[in-house]
Amino acid sequence: MTNETKTNETTEGAMGTDANGTEQVVMRSTEEIIGRADVNDLTAILSLVGREEPSGYHRVKDNCEAEFTWNYEKGRLEKLDKLYEKAKTAQWNARTDLPWDTPVDQEATLMANFATNPEQMGWDEAMLEGTSLAKWGPKEWLQFGIESQNWTLSQFMHGEQGALLCTAKIVETVPWIDAKYYAATQVVDEARHVEVFSRYLDEKMSGHYPMNAHLGLLLDDIIADSRWDMTYLGMQIMVEGLALAAFGFMHQISEEPLLKQILRYVMADEARHVAFGVLSLQELYSQLSAAELRERQEFAFEAAVRMRDRLRSQEVWERMGVPWEDVVTIARREDPSKDDFQILLFSRIVPNLRKLGLLDAADGWLRQKFTQMGVIEFENLSDSTEDQDAFADGSPVARGVA
Ligand SMILES: [Fe+2]
Ligand SMILES: [Fe+2]
Repeated sequence: MTNETKTNETTEGAMGTDANGTEQVVMRSTEEIIGRADVNDLTAILSLVGREEPSGYHRVKDNCEAEFTWNYEKGRLEKLDKLYEKAKTAQWNARTDLPWDTPVDQEATLMANFATNPEQMGWDEAMLEGTSLAKWGPKEWLQFGIESQNWTLSQFMHGEQGALLCTAKIVETVPWIDAKYYAATQVVDEARHVEVFSRYLDEKMSGHYPMNAHLGLLLDDIIADSRWDMTYLGMQIMVEGLALAAFGFMHQISEEPLLKQILRYVMADEARHVAFGVLSLQELYSQLSAAELRERQEFAFEAAVRMRDRLRSQEVWERMGVPWEDVVTIARREDPSKDDFQILLFSRIVPNLRKLGLLDAADGWLRQKFTQMGVIEFENLSDSTEDQDAFADGSPVARGVA
Protein backbone atom coordinates (compact mmCIF):
# COMPACT_ATOMS: atom_id res chain seq x y z
CA MET A 1 0.00 0.00 0.00
CA THR A 2 1.34 3.47 -0.79
CA ASN A 3 0.47 6.84 0.61
CA GLU A 4 -1.35 7.66 -2.58
CA THR A 5 -3.87 4.82 -2.61
CA LYS A 6 -6.95 6.24 -4.33
CA THR A 7 -10.23 6.02 -2.50
CA ASN A 8 -12.37 6.31 -5.65
CA GLU A 9 -15.36 7.63 -3.84
CA THR A 10 -17.79 10.06 -5.31
CA THR A 11 -21.03 9.23 -3.55
CA GLU A 12 -20.68 10.50 -0.05
CA GLY A 13 -21.81 13.50 1.91
CA ALA A 14 -24.07 15.24 4.37
CA MET A 15 -27.83 15.28 4.58
CA GLY A 16 -30.37 18.02 5.01
CA THR A 17 -34.10 18.71 4.88
CA ASP A 18 -36.27 19.55 1.90
CA ALA A 19 -38.89 22.31 1.76
CA ASN A 20 -41.38 20.08 3.63
CA GLY A 21 -38.95 19.45 6.45
CA THR A 22 -38.36 15.86 5.37
CA GLU A 23 -34.85 14.58 5.96
CA GLN A 24 -32.90 14.06 2.77
CA VAL A 25 -29.44 12.95 1.90
CA VAL A 26 -27.38 15.74 0.30
CA MET A 27 -24.32 13.96 -0.97
CA ARG A 28 -20.97 15.69 -0.49
CA SER A 29 -17.83 14.50 -2.20
CA THR A 30 -14.44 14.12 -0.50
CA GLU A 31 -13.42 17.21 -2.48
CA GLU A 32 -16.23 19.23 -0.92
CA ILE A 33 -15.28 18.05 2.56
CA ILE A 34 -11.49 18.46 2.47
CA GLY A 35 -10.83 20.49 -0.70
CA ARG A 36 -9.24 17.68 -2.76
CA ALA A 37 -10.64 14.57 -4.40
CA ASP A 38 -7.94 12.17 -3.22
CA VAL A 39 -7.49 12.07 0.54
CA ASN A 40 -3.89 10.86 0.10
CA ASP A 41 -2.79 13.33 -2.63
CA LEU A 42 0.76 13.99 -1.40
CA THR A 43 1.42 16.80 -3.87
CA ALA A 44 -1.58 18.74 -2.58
CA ILE A 45 -0.74 17.95 1.05
CA LEU A 46 2.93 18.93 0.85
CA SER A 47 2.62 22.06 -1.28
CA LEU A 48 0.38 23.81 1.26
CA VAL A 49 2.65 25.84 3.56
CA GLY A 50 1.62 28.02 6.52
CA ARG A 51 2.19 31.80 6.36
CA GLU A 52 1.74 34.51 8.93
CA GLU A 53 -0.32 37.56 7.95
CA PRO A 54 1.86 40.70 7.70
CA SER A 55 -0.61 42.42 10.05
CA GLY A 56 0.30 39.97 12.81
CA TYR A 57 -3.37 38.98 13.27
CA HIS A 58 -5.69 36.35 11.85
CA ARG A 59 -9.42 37.00 12.13
CA VAL A 60 -12.22 34.42 11.77
CA LYS A 61 -15.99 35.02 12.08
CA ASP A 62 -17.22 32.80 14.90
CA ASN A 63 -20.91 32.98 13.87
CA CYS A 64 -22.27 32.24 17.32
CA GLU A 65 -24.98 33.47 19.65
CA ALA A 66 -24.13 33.82 23.32
CA GLU A 67 -26.69 31.93 25.37
CA PHE A 68 -27.88 32.61 28.93
CA THR A 69 -29.45 29.79 30.91
CA TRP A 70 -31.90 30.43 33.77
CA ASN A 71 -31.36 26.95 35.20
CA TYR A 72 -28.62 27.50 37.80
CA GLU A 73 -28.95 24.08 39.45
CA LYS A 74 -25.34 23.06 40.04
CA GLY A 75 -24.58 19.35 39.72
CA ARG A 76 -27.58 18.51 37.51
CA LEU A 77 -25.00 17.00 35.13
CA GLU A 78 -23.16 15.05 37.80
CA LYS A 79 -20.09 13.94 35.86
CA LEU A 80 -19.42 17.43 34.51
CA ASP A 81 -19.82 18.82 38.02
CA LYS A 82 -17.25 16.33 39.31
CA LEU A 83 -14.85 17.33 36.56
CA TYR A 84 -15.36 21.02 37.43
CA GLU A 85 -14.57 20.37 41.11
CA LYS A 86 -11.46 18.42 40.11
CA ALA A 87 -10.33 21.17 37.74
CA LYS A 88 -10.57 23.81 40.48
CA THR A 89 -8.13 21.94 42.73
CA ALA A 90 -5.76 20.94 39.90
CA GLN A 91 -4.75 24.46 38.88
CA TRP A 92 -1.03 25.28 38.68
CA ASN A 93 0.93 28.45 38.07
CA ALA A 94 3.02 28.49 34.91
CA ARG A 95 5.34 31.15 36.31
CA THR A 96 6.07 29.77 39.78
CA ASP A 97 5.56 25.98 39.56
CA LEU A 98 8.13 25.28 36.85
CA PRO A 99 11.96 25.37 37.08
CA TRP A 100 12.46 28.05 34.40
CA ASP A 101 16.11 28.49 35.45
CA THR A 102 16.93 25.02 34.03
CA PRO A 103 19.60 25.58 31.34
CA VAL A 104 18.61 24.14 27.95
CA ASP A 105 21.25 23.62 25.25
CA GLN A 106 19.19 22.66 22.22
CA GLU A 107 22.17 21.55 20.13
CA ALA A 108 23.82 19.52 22.92
CA THR A 109 20.48 17.81 23.75
CA LEU A 110 20.05 16.81 20.11
CA MET A 111 23.64 15.58 19.81
CA ALA A 112 23.22 13.46 22.94
CA ASN A 113 20.02 12.10 21.49
CA PHE A 114 21.77 11.27 18.20
CA ALA A 115 24.55 9.51 20.15
CA THR A 116 22.07 7.16 21.83
CA ASN A 117 19.82 6.88 18.74
CA PRO A 118 22.20 7.03 15.73
CA GLU A 119 19.39 6.11 13.35
CA GLN A 120 17.91 9.58 13.89
CA MET A 121 21.02 11.21 12.38
CA GLY A 122 20.02 10.86 8.76
CA TRP A 123 17.44 8.65 7.11
CA ASP A 124 17.65 5.44 5.18
CA GLU A 125 19.78 5.98 2.03
CA ALA A 126 17.26 4.33 -0.26
CA MET A 127 14.62 6.83 0.91
CA LEU A 128 16.81 9.80 0.00
CA GLU A 129 18.37 8.58 -3.25
CA GLY A 130 18.22 11.12 -6.07
CA THR A 131 17.05 13.97 -3.80
CA SER A 132 18.95 16.92 -2.36
CA LEU A 133 18.85 15.23 1.06
CA ALA A 134 21.18 12.49 -0.17
CA LYS A 135 24.03 15.00 0.18
CA TRP A 136 23.16 16.06 3.73
CA GLY A 137 25.86 15.54 6.36
CA PRO A 138 25.78 15.77 10.19
CA LYS A 139 25.57 19.60 10.04
CA GLU A 140 22.35 19.58 7.97
CA TRP A 141 20.76 16.81 10.01
CA LEU A 142 21.52 18.69 13.21
CA GLN A 143 19.94 21.84 11.76
CA PHE A 144 16.95 19.78 10.65
CA GLY A 145 16.59 18.47 14.23
CA ILE A 146 16.72 22.00 15.64
CA GLU A 147 14.19 23.33 13.12
CA SER A 148 11.89 20.37 13.77
CA GLN A 149 11.92 21.11 17.52
CA ASN A 150 11.19 24.80 16.93
CA TRP A 151 8.37 23.86 14.57
CA THR A 152 6.84 21.27 16.91
CA LEU A 153 6.79 23.62 19.90
CA SER A 154 5.40 26.42 17.70
CA GLN A 155 2.53 24.20 16.57
CA PHE A 156 1.80 23.27 20.19
CA MET A 157 1.65 26.97 21.04
CA HIS A 158 -0.65 27.87 18.13
CA GLY A 159 -2.90 24.89 18.83
CA GLU A 160 -3.17 26.00 22.46
CA GLN A 161 -4.28 29.44 21.36
CA GLY A 162 -6.91 27.75 19.19
CA ALA A 163 -8.07 25.86 22.29
CA LEU A 164 -8.19 29.09 24.28
CA LEU A 165 -10.47 30.75 21.71
CA CYS A 166 -12.67 27.67 21.28
CA THR A 167 -13.17 27.19 25.02
CA ALA A 168 -14.12 30.84 25.45
CA LYS A 169 -16.72 30.27 22.72
CA ILE A 170 -18.04 27.18 24.51
CA VAL A 171 -18.58 29.22 27.69
CA GLU A 172 -20.85 31.47 25.62
CA THR A 173 -22.71 28.87 23.59
CA VAL A 174 -23.16 25.68 25.65
CA PRO A 175 -26.65 25.68 27.20
CA TRP A 176 -25.89 23.95 30.55
CA ILE A 177 -24.58 25.75 33.63
CA ASP A 178 -22.37 22.79 34.69
CA ALA A 179 -20.68 22.88 31.28
CA LYS A 180 -20.25 26.67 31.38
CA TYR A 181 -18.58 26.34 34.79
CA TYR A 182 -16.24 23.62 33.61
CA ALA A 183 -15.40 25.38 30.32
CA ALA A 184 -14.45 28.49 32.32
CA THR A 185 -11.75 26.46 34.12
CA GLN A 186 -10.52 25.23 30.78
CA VAL A 187 -10.12 28.79 29.51
CA VAL A 188 -7.64 29.36 32.37
CA ASP A 189 -5.92 26.03 31.61
CA GLU A 190 -5.47 26.96 27.95
CA ALA A 191 -4.16 30.44 28.76
CA ARG A 192 -1.54 28.74 30.92
CA HIS A 193 -0.65 26.32 28.11
CA VAL A 194 -0.14 29.15 25.61
CA GLU A 195 1.98 30.88 28.25
CA VAL A 196 4.29 27.88 28.88
CA PHE A 197 4.90 26.97 25.25
CA SER A 198 5.40 30.60 24.26
CA ARG A 199 7.92 31.14 27.08
CA TYR A 200 9.72 27.88 26.34
CA LEU A 201 10.08 28.88 22.68
CA ASP A 202 11.33 32.37 23.55
CA GLU A 203 13.78 31.36 26.26
CA LYS A 204 14.92 27.83 25.39
CA MET A 205 14.44 27.26 21.64
CA SER A 206 15.98 29.13 18.70
CA GLY A 207 13.12 30.29 16.49
CA HIS A 208 9.37 30.46 15.84
CA TYR A 209 7.27 29.05 13.02
CA PRO A 210 3.89 30.20 11.70
CA MET A 211 0.92 27.91 12.18
CA ASN A 212 0.96 24.87 9.90
CA ALA A 213 -1.45 25.43 6.98
CA HIS A 214 -3.47 22.25 7.60
CA LEU A 215 -3.85 22.97 11.32
CA GLY A 216 -4.91 26.52 10.42
CA LEU A 217 -7.62 25.30 8.03
CA LEU A 218 -9.01 23.03 10.73
CA LEU A 219 -9.00 25.66 13.49
CA ASP A 220 -10.72 28.17 11.17
CA ASP A 221 -13.46 25.64 10.37
CA ILE A 222 -13.98 24.78 14.04
CA ILE A 223 -14.26 28.43 15.07
CA ALA A 224 -16.50 29.36 12.12
CA ASP A 225 -19.10 26.65 12.77
CA SER A 226 -22.16 28.14 14.48
CA ARG A 227 -23.24 24.91 16.24
CA TRP A 228 -21.91 24.63 19.78
CA ASP A 229 -21.38 20.87 19.65
CA MET A 230 -19.11 21.27 16.60
CA THR A 231 -16.71 23.36 18.68
CA TYR A 232 -16.52 20.48 21.15
CA LEU A 233 -16.19 17.84 18.46
CA GLY A 234 -13.47 19.71 16.57
CA MET A 235 -11.49 20.95 19.56
CA GLN A 236 -12.11 18.68 22.56
CA ILE A 237 -12.40 15.40 20.70
CA MET A 238 -10.21 15.79 17.64
CA VAL A 239 -7.54 18.46 18.24
CA GLU A 240 -7.09 17.82 21.96
CA GLY A 241 -7.32 14.07 21.52
CA LEU A 242 -4.40 14.22 19.10
CA ALA A 243 -2.54 16.80 21.17
CA LEU A 244 -2.65 14.54 24.20
CA ALA A 245 -0.98 11.75 22.21
CA ALA A 246 1.56 14.18 20.71
CA PHE A 247 2.49 15.53 24.15
CA GLY A 248 2.84 11.95 25.43
CA PHE A 249 5.10 11.04 22.53
CA MET A 250 7.24 14.14 23.09
CA HIS A 251 7.43 13.38 26.80
CA GLN A 252 8.62 9.88 26.01
CA ILE A 253 11.41 10.87 23.62
CA SER A 254 12.61 14.07 25.31
CA GLU A 255 15.54 14.00 27.73
CA GLU A 256 15.16 17.66 28.65
CA PRO A 257 13.86 17.91 32.25
CA LEU A 258 12.06 21.29 31.98
CA LEU A 259 10.14 20.26 28.86
CA LYS A 260 9.26 16.92 30.47
CA GLN A 261 7.85 18.75 33.49
CA ILE A 262 5.86 21.16 31.30
CA LEU A 263 4.41 18.27 29.34
CA ARG A 264 3.45 16.38 32.50
CA TYR A 265 1.48 19.37 33.78
CA VAL A 266 -0.13 20.10 30.43
CA MET A 267 -1.12 16.46 29.87
CA ALA A 268 -2.83 16.31 33.26
CA ASP A 269 -5.03 19.24 32.13
CA GLU A 270 -5.59 17.94 28.60
CA ALA A 271 -6.86 14.59 29.82
CA ARG A 272 -9.68 16.45 31.62
CA HIS A 273 -10.40 18.48 28.51
CA VAL A 274 -10.91 15.46 26.29
CA ALA A 275 -13.10 13.86 28.98
CA PHE A 276 -15.17 17.08 29.05
CA GLY A 277 -15.81 16.70 25.33
CA VAL A 278 -16.86 13.06 25.53
CA LEU A 279 -19.10 13.58 28.58
CA SER A 280 -20.81 16.61 27.04
CA LEU A 281 -21.47 15.11 23.64
CA GLN A 282 -22.35 11.55 24.59
CA GLU A 283 -25.94 12.24 25.61
CA LEU A 284 -26.57 14.78 22.89
CA TYR A 285 -25.33 12.50 20.13
CA SER A 286 -27.49 9.62 21.35
CA GLN A 287 -30.50 11.80 20.46
CA LEU A 288 -29.46 13.11 17.03
CA SER A 289 -30.97 11.89 13.76
CA ALA A 290 -28.92 9.94 11.22
CA ALA A 291 -28.69 13.06 9.04
CA GLU A 292 -27.34 15.16 11.88
CA LEU A 293 -24.87 12.43 12.86
CA ARG A 294 -23.64 12.23 9.29
CA GLU A 295 -22.67 15.89 9.39
CA ARG A 296 -20.70 15.23 12.56
CA GLN A 297 -19.01 12.25 10.96
CA GLU A 298 -17.91 14.36 8.01
CA PHE A 299 -16.55 17.02 10.34
CA ALA A 300 -14.63 14.37 12.31
CA PHE A 301 -13.26 12.96 9.05
CA GLU A 302 -12.13 16.39 7.86
CA ALA A 303 -10.45 17.00 11.21
CA ALA A 304 -8.70 13.61 11.16
CA VAL A 305 -7.31 14.22 7.67
CA ARG A 306 -6.11 17.74 8.50
CA MET A 307 -4.45 16.59 11.73
CA ARG A 308 -2.69 13.80 9.86
CA ASP A 309 -1.57 16.16 7.07
CA ARG A 310 -0.19 18.68 9.53
CA LEU A 311 2.35 16.10 10.75
CA ARG A 312 4.36 16.48 7.55
CA SER A 313 6.03 19.69 8.83
CA GLN A 314 5.83 21.41 5.45
CA GLU A 315 7.18 24.67 6.93
CA VAL A 316 10.42 22.99 8.10
CA TRP A 317 11.22 21.63 4.64
CA GLU A 318 10.68 25.05 3.17
CA ARG A 319 12.95 26.74 5.72
CA MET A 320 15.66 24.10 5.09
CA GLY A 321 15.49 24.99 1.40
CA VAL A 322 14.41 21.52 0.25
CA PRO A 323 12.49 21.63 -3.07
CA TRP A 324 9.01 20.31 -2.40
CA GLU A 325 9.36 17.87 -5.33
CA ASP A 326 12.09 16.16 -3.24
CA VAL A 327 9.79 16.09 -0.23
CA VAL A 328 7.07 14.46 -2.34
CA THR A 329 9.57 11.91 -3.69
CA ILE A 330 10.62 10.91 -0.17
CA ALA A 331 7.05 10.86 1.12
CA ARG A 332 6.03 8.51 -1.71
CA ARG A 333 8.71 6.06 -0.58
CA GLU A 334 7.40 5.91 2.98
CA ASP A 335 5.30 3.03 4.20
CA PRO A 336 2.37 4.58 6.10
CA SER A 337 1.66 1.30 7.92
CA LYS A 338 5.04 1.74 9.66
CA ASP A 339 4.52 5.37 10.62
CA ASP A 340 4.26 4.82 14.38
CA PHE A 341 3.85 8.47 15.25
CA GLN A 342 0.96 9.07 12.88
CA ILE A 343 -0.75 5.90 13.99
CA LEU A 344 -0.20 6.67 17.68
CA LEU A 345 -1.98 9.98 17.29
CA PHE A 346 -5.17 8.23 16.24
CA SER A 347 -5.07 6.00 19.31
CA ARG A 348 -6.80 8.81 21.21
CA ILE A 349 -9.51 9.88 18.82
CA VAL A 350 -10.85 6.63 17.39
CA PRO A 351 -12.01 5.22 20.79
CA ASN A 352 -13.62 8.56 21.63
CA LEU A 353 -15.53 8.69 18.35
CA ARG A 354 -16.70 5.11 18.95
CA LYS A 355 -17.92 6.10 22.42
CA LEU A 356 -19.90 8.97 20.84
CA GLY A 357 -21.52 6.55 18.40
CA LEU A 358 -19.98 8.29 15.41
CA LEU A 359 -18.12 5.31 13.97
CA ASP A 360 -21.20 3.27 13.18
CA ALA A 361 -23.93 5.88 12.65
CA ALA A 362 -25.15 6.51 9.09
CA ASP A 363 -24.29 3.02 7.85
CA GLY A 364 -20.79 3.08 9.30
CA TRP A 365 -19.55 5.83 6.97
CA LEU A 366 -16.80 6.95 9.35
CA ARG A 367 -15.74 3.37 10.14
CA GLN A 368 -15.20 2.88 6.43
CA LYS A 369 -13.15 6.08 6.19
CA PHE A 370 -10.94 5.18 9.13
CA THR A 371 -10.45 1.69 7.74
CA GLN A 372 -9.12 3.28 4.54
CA MET A 373 -6.81 5.50 6.59
CA GLY A 374 -5.54 2.42 8.47
CA VAL A 375 -6.53 3.64 11.93
CA ILE A 376 -9.71 1.68 12.72
CA GLU A 377 -7.69 -0.86 14.74
CA PHE A 378 -7.58 1.63 17.63
CA GLU A 379 -11.31 1.62 18.30
CA ASN A 380 -11.12 -0.81 21.21
CA LEU A 381 -8.56 1.10 23.27
CA SER A 382 -9.88 2.89 26.36
CA ASP A 383 -11.68 6.18 25.79
CA SER A 384 -11.00 9.43 27.61
CA THR A 385 -13.74 9.07 30.22
CA GLU A 386 -12.03 5.88 31.38
CA ASP A 387 -8.44 7.01 31.52
CA GLN A 388 -8.46 10.67 32.48
CA ASP A 389 -7.83 9.69 36.12
CA ALA A 390 -4.55 8.15 35.01
CA PHE A 391 -3.30 11.69 34.32
CA ALA A 392 -4.70 13.27 37.48
CA ASP A 393 -1.34 13.29 39.27
CA GLY A 394 0.45 14.46 36.16
CA SER A 395 1.77 10.99 35.35
CA PRO A 396 1.50 10.07 31.69
CA VAL A 397 0.57 6.48 32.38
CA ALA A 398 -2.24 5.91 29.89
CA ARG A 399 -1.43 3.54 27.08
CA GLY A 400 0.81 4.78 24.34
CA VAL A 401 2.07 7.78 26.25
CA ALA A 402 4.30 6.38 29.00
FE1 LIG B 1 -4.21 22.98 26.16
FE1 LIG C 1 -6.86 21.56 26.27
